[in-house]
Amino acid sequence: MEPKVEEALPHSSAANRQDESGFYQHLESSPVPAYICDRDGAIGYFNPAAAHIWGRQPRLRDARERYGGAVALFTADGQPLPRDLSCIARAIAGEYERASDEMVVERPDGSRVHVLSNVNVLRDARGQVRGALDILVDVSRYQPAARRIAAQERFARAVLDSLSDHIAVLDRDGNIVAVNDAWENFAADNDADGATRLGQGLNYLAACRAARSADDAFAERALAGIEAVLRRRQSSFLLEYPCHSPTEQRWFLMNVTPLYGDEGGAVVSHVNITERRLAHEARLRLVEQLLSAQEDERRRVALDLHDDIGQALTAVLLGLRATADLPLSDAARSRLQSLRDMAAGTLDAVRRLARGLRPSTLQDLGLSAALERFVADFEAAQQLRVQLELPGQAAPRLPERLEIALYRIVQEALTNVAKHARPTAIEVVLRRQADAVCLTIQDDGSGFAADDWRQQPDDGKHMGLSGIGERAALLGGRLEVQSAPGCGTTLIVSLPLAETRS
Ligand SMILES: Nc1ncnc2c1ncn2[C@@H]1O[C@H](COP(=O)(O)OP(=O)(O)OP(=O)(O)O)[C@@H](O)[C@H]1O
Ligand SMILES: [Mg+2]
Repeated sequence: MEPKVEEALPHSSAANRQDESGFYQHLESSPVPAYICDRDGAIGYFNPAAAHIWGRQPRLRDARERYGGAVALFTADGQPLPRDLSCIARAIAGEYERASDEMVVERPDGSRVHVLSNVNVLRDARGQVRGALDILVDVSRYQPAARRIAAQERFARAVLDSLSDHIAVLDRDGNIVAVNDAWENFAADNDADGATRLGQGLNYLAACRAARSADDAFAERALAGIEAVLRRRQSSFLLEYPCHSPTEQRWFLMNVTPLYGDEGGAVVSHVNITERRLAHEARLRLVEQLLSAQEDERRRVALDLHDDIGQALTAVLLGLRATADLPLSDAARSRLQSLRDMAAGTLDAVRRLARGLRPSTLQDLGLSAALERFVADFEAAQQLRVQLELPGQAAPRLPERLEIALYRIVQEALTNVAKHARPTAIEVVLRRQADAVCLTIQDDGSGFAADDWRQQPDDGKHMGLSGIGERAALLGGRLEVQSAPGCGTTLIVSLPLAETRS
């Protein structure tokens, strides 16, 4: 059929027709499907390529053939699309001046073609709508790829939404490009009015900066950590922080990892660690009670040793000294002397034991004096030399809890050295820093497989090192064990001066 292009639309002026005829002639030979509907939706013009797409030649200016010549229309995802909701119908109805939308057209033989419909409203010289031009692009051959991409997107989305951690994906500038369901739900539960809700389209760094200026110290650290990962200065960042609700105490662990790919960016996840944290706190409280009971018990045993056994031995010594004044044979005198030496040695050992159990110097003279005394006793008892360094002794005394912990840690560590290491050199250094104390105990002895020790389950047989770790944790600090067979052992304990554990 040869459409008369100059009659495509009614109400065309002679001048219009003159202008348009060149355009229509161009469309006539174009491989791009195009058609025009008048303002009632009837087809005023279509080119051969459009007839090919539809698989038929619709009748022109027929009120039953509205909005194109397809047998039926469907949306891109296969739902029936009523004709008067098609892109061209909505443009003519005044919804927009130009628009593009995907749709599926069905041919008489039942085959379907996926097209992109590009609609432009046509107006007369007075601006009245005359109809609309629709240029169709056959995108069927891109459909398998598009379906694959859509399936991959759905899969990635499903994976993201299946995770119970709250996850946000950031681009290289910190803009949130995706969040998962858990994130959305948490945000909705925590911020009902949406005023500070952090979601897709917002900038995470800007939100941290805003919270930082509201004096949130964790926001400051989060900002630095996320920036470091985004700039690839750091391969990951972890931050444990409180986020209490009016009804509940809660803690979260923020984990920031790089988003791999050319575009850069990062993935931020928040895991609720409240249960773990509460269990940890309960355990620390228990350990604290245990250690304090242990200190009390040691004090009591030390007093018993000093008062009962110490006094009794002193009485024995005095008795032996008085006996020496009596007339005795040479053999009896020599025997008496060795008994006195034995009693004096035992008294010394008992006093040392009592001092170890209840270091009164610790209370009276402070940690440095108590450590010097303990190290001297240790050297005498073990026949080993210890290099003790205590720089900054003039500084004010540490809190009692810290002094007791550090003293007990040195005790346990040196006992381990004597029991296990067979060293030639031992060094103990206690260094005061602005906001922490750092204790290092190093020996050049046999060493052990520190990594294996960390993996071992707690069998209740080897309690020393884990006890040191627990004492440190109790004070908000940490223990680092560096050792390997044949390479000696170094323990590094650092304790913060302003205790961080609340
Ligand atoms: N300085 C050291 N040199 C060599 N091995 C060590 C040293 N310190 C610890 N170890 C090794 O680590 C293990 C664990 O030490 P830990 O103090 O926990 O337990 P323990 O000394 O065996 O027993 P406990 O301290 O409970 O009496 C030891 O059994 C030992 O094998
Ligand atoms: Mg031990």
